[in-house]
Amino acid sequence: MSVALIGGTGLANLEGLEPLRTHAVDTPYGAPSMAIEEGRYGDTSLFFLHRHGGAAGRPIPPHLVNYRANIWALKQLGVTQVVASNAVGSINPLMRPGRLVIPDQLIDYSWGREHSFDDGSSGELLHIDFTEPFDRELRARILVAAADAKVPCHDSATIAVMQGPRLETSAEVRRLGADGCDVVGMTTMPEASLARELGLAYASVCMVVNVAAGLDDRPITMDAIRAILDQETRLLGTLLRSFLANLSA
Ligand code: HPA
Repeated sequence: MSVALIGGTGLANLEGLEPLRTHAVDTPYGAPSMAIEEGRYGDTSLFFLHRHGGAAGRPIPPHLVNYRANIWALKQLGVTQVVASNAVGSINPLMRPGRLVIPDQLIDYSWGREHSFDDGSSGELLHIDFTEPFDRELRARILVAAADAKVPCHDSATIAVMQGPRLETSAEVRRLGADGCDVVGMTTMPEASLARELGLAYASVCMVVNVAAGLDDRPITMDAIRAILDQETRLLGTLLRSFLANLSA
């Protein structure tokens, strides 16, 4: 079982990853966000890709990430399990900043992204089953690892995937709440469905970094988000170590 972590906002480097090699993978869709790092993390090997990577320290915004190249490159490297980290805003008052959330459903509000490998050339209609957008077994393993490591996690949530890069209006957040969404982010789609198209198990660990627009009086600032992200990436690191230790046990 070969595991990759896709790091989102706040996870440009994976602290504790001892680098073994980097893979500059060429794909039919262009270059991934960065050369993919392979390293040892605890006792296990792990691939790491920062979604917002980019050249010369210029991060790639959510709507411009080359999701197809990223997922294709991971498949090319033999990855079978993808754990994605996503920074999100909180809509459900139970899922407050500082908490980790493992979503089990999503609603895709993004648009205009290259969202499929199906270009019509296969001669078949490619309707993947996406009833459960996150891999059930991988989610279960993540939740066991969280419990083992005593990292509190919400084990069920619906994530809204917005186009970005701007944040939402308060009316949009009210609508997302009425639609049944618990948290809101910008990068889970089309990543999750592209992974499903290539047969990769995919699950997300969401780090709640702010209260969504209009739901409290505080303005959403990048400084406040960064401060919370620092705490949460430590929690994610603990969770990931436990997850990998369980896999190799
Ligand atoms: N909305 C959308 N994406 C986000 C947010 C948010 O409030 N916070 C972090 N990513």
